Amino acid sequence: MVNSFHSLLSTIALALLVPSVLAVPAHRAKCSKGRTASNDACCVWFDVLDDIQENLFDGGECGEEVHESLRLTFHDAIGFSPALTRQGKFGGGGADGSIMLFSDIETNFAANNGVDDIVEQQKPIAIKHQVSFGDFIQFAGAVGSSNCAGGPRIQFLAGRSNVTKPSPDHLVPEPFDSVTSILARMGDAGFKPDEVVALLASHSVAAQDTIDPKLAGHPFDSTPSDFDSQFFVETLLKGTLIPGDSLHKGQVKSPLPGEFRLQSDELLARDSRTSCEWQSFISNPNSMVPKFERAMAKMATLGQNPKKLIDCSEVIPVPRGRVKQPTLPAGKTIKDIEASCRKAPFPRLPTDKGTFTSILPVPSS
Ligand code: HEM
Ligand SMILES: *[C@@H]1O[C@H](CO)[C@@H](O)[C@H](O)[C@H]1NC(C)=O
Repeated sequence: MVNSFHSLLSTIALALLVPSVLAVPAHRAKCSKGRTASNDACCVWFDVLDDIQENLFDGGECGEEVHESLRLTFHDAIGFSPALTRQGKFGGGGADGSIMLFSDIETNFAANNGVDDIVEQQKPIAIKHQVSFGDFIQFAGAVGSSNCAGGPRIQFLAGRSNVTKPSPDHLVPEPFDSVTSILARMGDAGFKPDEVVALLASHSVAAQDTIDPKLAGHPFDSTPSDFDSQFFVETLLKGTLIPGDSLHKGQVKSPLPGEFRLQSDELLARDSRTSCEWQSFISNPNSMVPKFERAMAKMATLGQNPKKLIDCSEVIPVPRGRVKQPTLPAGKTIKDIEASCRKAPFPRLPTDKGTFTSILPVPSS
């Protein structure tokens, strides 16, 4: 008894000692401007960071180029279809940079309308720093999102090959697709309905340019530079107005002047397969960013073996600002909310004071 107690004590003592013995200071690679990294291969990303914050994102803003860069991460990665592979066809390489290497092919796919602009801005920067296109696209999306108030800090793994094949067409969801078709396509790529909803937190920092070109820059929610739950609230408001001359394919009525609503966002907000997760980001706004970060980490490695990539997440800036708690826009009441989750009541939200004025388009620079 005494003996076993004694040996238990010494086991505890050993267990306490071991970690401090093992905690030998790890070698840190020396990078530019006195910065260090866990791996030599991460140093180049500090230089890319400086370059894109200054020259692509206008000094670290969460503006048009950030929104476009975030969209591009999706349009590159979703070119990945195990279903096609099972049919003996090429299913696409996922997050492999093919949308940039084969921009002459992929930017002509209808669902990629408008991405040519950011591809052409990013490409020379990737070539200048000699990083692969696949890495660059995911890095730019992660850095860009970190510029948005309350934004995510998305994992960044480096080392994707620069050698790719063009993605097949028809793998990127369209705003006029049904929920069934969107969930099937996303499911094929490996995402559950809840993860699709989480990924759509991206539409909280988003605008459209191509569905109605006359309304270029018109955003999907009233706070397009804040990574907040406002998008999830506003998509559940009853659509009452047409922000432009007429409705275009993939567009539905919006609740607020200047706001643009995609048909797919309206349907996903109300569908029984997705509505409860949608509402959960309003009831529990702090759950949105962590779930988005997890889904983005998965998306960024579609078609890749994450074990073969090097974790350079330390280069991604820590986002500033706190997430705004969701509100009902001035002039709206709970009666305007088309609550669609049958399992939980719609949460009580404060209403913004004053009168709602038209949402301004995201400035193009
Ligand atoms: C699941 C189905 C989805 C559909 C149908 C869809 C559709 C669209 C459409 C039509 C636009 C407007 C493009 C334009 O005219 O400029 C857009 C913008 C955008 N999308 Fe999606 N999207 C989906 C999912 C996603 C995902 C998963 C992401 C994640 C990264 C994403 C990120 C964005 C961003 C950031 C923008 C704004 C681009 C800008 O402001 O320039 N989308 N989306
Ligand atoms: C990736 O491929 C493009 C096109 O061939 C080339 O311009 C670029 O330098 C390549 N980048 C790397 C890192 O190999």
